[in-house]
Amino acid sequence: MYKTKIAGIGKYLPENIVRNEDLMKYMDTSDEWIQERTGIQERRYAKKHKETTATMGARAAEVAIQRAGIDKEDVDFIIFATLSPDYYFPGSGVLMQRELGITHKEAGCLDIRNQCSGFVYGLSIADQFIRNGVYKNVLLVGAEMHSMGLDFTNRGRNVTVIFGDGAGAVILQPTTEPDQGVLTTHLHADGTHAEELSMISPGAHGGKHTGLEGFGFPDPSVPGDVFVTQKMVDDGLMFPNMNGQLVFKTAVVKFPEVIHEALTKAGLSSEDIDMFIPHQANLRISNFVQKKLNLPDEKVYNNIQRYGNTTAASIPIALCEAWEEGRVKRGDLVCLAAFGAGFTWGSALIRW
Ligand code: ACO
Repeated sequence: MYKTKIAGIGKYLPENIVRNEDLMKYMDTSDEWIQERTGIQERRYAKKHKETTATMGARAAEVAIQRAGIDKEDVDFIIFATLSPDYYFPGSGVLMQRELGITHKEAGCLDIRNQCSGFVYGLSIADQFIRNGVYKNVLLVGAEMHSMGLDFTNRGRNVTVIFGDGAGAVILQPTTEPDQGVLTTHLHADGTHAEELSMISPGAHGGKHTGLEGFGFPDPSVPGDVFVTQKMVDDGLMFPNMNGQLVFKTAVVKFPEVIHEALTKAGLSSEDIDMFIPHQANLRISNFVQKKLNLPDEKVYNNIQRYGNTTAASIPIALCEAWEEGRVKRGDLVCLAAFGAGFTWGSALIRW
């Protein structure tokens, strides 16, 4: 039986740095408000019309492929996690596959829509394929281009200031080394509060659960009332919406819970963790979880200060940086954990 190792890791961050002060041009906000509540100082925005979620994913993937010492033709399967896809459909996985030029053996592409927990879900899926001997090189990518879909008016300021663009990628391979690989993954979801962190339109919801009776379905008798209606635009329903306090309260319970679940399964304790990489939701959430786990600062990696919340990309970007800085080494116990829209959450323990 194989285990799954991370054989190569890469990241891509667009060049354009957007500081908190820059956002003040568009909305009533301040560096102080943003830093105090989220820890964020700046984030990156992709080059519009030049970069997309799929192209950023491809740039991160190229680095991961090169560091794994394989050719792009060796990739057997692609998993692409994002909440900001290039198109409504098809998913960004095939677009990235085309961008990378790896269509030779028609490797399968799976798009997953688990938002902040997308990378952990993707890792768990890849782990099943690899442990069962199905694939030898799985390319797992988390990428987001939030900047194209945020509300830059005061109405959206509680959400817009949090998010940034970027991508992270890993090549996952089988290993037979006894002291290496993914030890355990744990995935959970509870749709009770699905709309509390969501972007509901355009979609087929028809107002169910949102109090927007009859909304969302075009009325053929109304000229111009198509999939994207004027009301949708006027009411800003195609922007992300978040009940920040509910997200905060739930996240600080679910993060520690799912980490302890993984530690218990692996017969380990939080003292055994060498590096904890939380999804970069909010620095206050990460600090709270760190305290709960009783981890010293050197065992936790945060970079939300520089990149904002990059959703499905945040864990692979942070993991990549931690590895590049020599803070993740062969034999280390790495703990990944995420919580986000759905709500969905998950954890993974990896012996590097
Ligand atoms: N700048 C200035 N003022 C703002 C901003 C802003 N960007 N956004 C909201 N405000 C104002 C509000 O309008 C409100 O004003 P009022 O009191 O006059 O009505 C005031 O600030 C407080 O608003 P709240 O929404 O209650 O702000 P809160 O203190 O809860 O902070 C925040 C909002 C930062 C989102 C907080 O709830 C939080 O940290 N939640 C966790 C959610 C999170 O981190 N999500 C990350 C994405 S999801 C994920 O990755 C899991």
